Amino acid sequence: MGRVEGKVCLVTGGASGLGRADAIRLAEEGAKVVVTDLNVEGGEETAHLAGENAIFLEHDVSSEDAWLSVIKTTLNEFDKLNVLVNNAGIVMPATPEEVTNDEWRLIQNINTDGVFYGIKLGISTIKQNGELGSIINMSSTAALVGYPVYFAYAASKGAVRSMTKSAAVHCLQAGYKIRVNSLHPGGIATAMTANITPPPPEMLELMQHMPPGPGIGEADDVAYTVLFLASDESKHINGVELPVDNTTVIYP
Ligand SMILES: NC(=O)c1ccc[n+]([C@@H]2O[C@H](COP(=O)([O-])OP(=O)(O)OC[C@H]3O[C@@H](n4cnc5c(N)ncnc54)[C@H](O)[C@@H]3O)[C@@H](O)[C@H]2O)c1
Repeated sequence: MGRVEGKVCLVTGGASGLGRADAIRLAEEGAKVVVTDLNVEGGEETAHLAGENAIFLEHDVSSEDAWLSVIKTTLNEFDKLNVLVNNAGIVMPATPEEVTNDEWRLIQNINTDGVFYGIKLGISTIKQNGELGSIINMSSTAALVGYPVYFAYAASKGAVRSMTKSAAVHCLQAGYKIRVNSLHPGGIATAMTANITPPPPEMLELMQHMPPGPGIGEADDVAYTVLFLASDESKHINGVELPVDNTTVIYP
């Protein structure tokens, strides 16, 4: 029996990086997986890699209508939803003095509004089946420490962190069996970190040499944590902010 056998899991931003790794690990452990993304080619490839229990749906997380359509198709295909991984996100470097209003809005539309719609519709959908549910929100170490070069991104990830805590308490008070937790990866090798411009070489150099081991994580370091939080193994863990960063948050 797989660790998430019988659960239906929806992973946003599943066309690459962390979302792809999440989808594959959840499917491996017996879940039915709905992979969503703007990127159709990458999303279909992830669904193929995850196997016969995975499907792909095109999805812009910044659109509430797109969310409604994805939830409807998920229920048509699999009858229920147990786990939502709010993973889709973008990053753009800019200090508080440099960031433009358009850049700010774009990041909040995707990273903040996208997770807001996910939490809102995820709760109303998951609560219908009466089974244990889990919402996992991808925040960042940027929500925990100062990230001046990623000012708007850090603000959006801070919103994800606090939405998580309020939603966790709401579900508990309402008597829903839905846990809501946030993950805070540090530098993980994905397209996002490879494509950051301008590259922050000093930061990468620092992290590479950070004890006790390599500072740059792998997508599976996050995916196995997602798997744990998706499974009932973590049924007493609720409202937490969990760094997945090999101590970079606390390392001086
Ligand atoms: N890689 C890291 O070091 C790191 C660290 C901390 C947090 N994170 C967070 O993890 C999540 C995944 O990042 P990643 O490193 O895998 O990046 P990635 O760029 O490889 O993947 C992000 C995915 O989100 C999708 N996406 C972007 N905008 C979208 C939208 N509007 N609707 C739907 N999908 C959209 C992209 O197409 C892409 O497939 C992000 O929320 C990111 O902020 C990553």
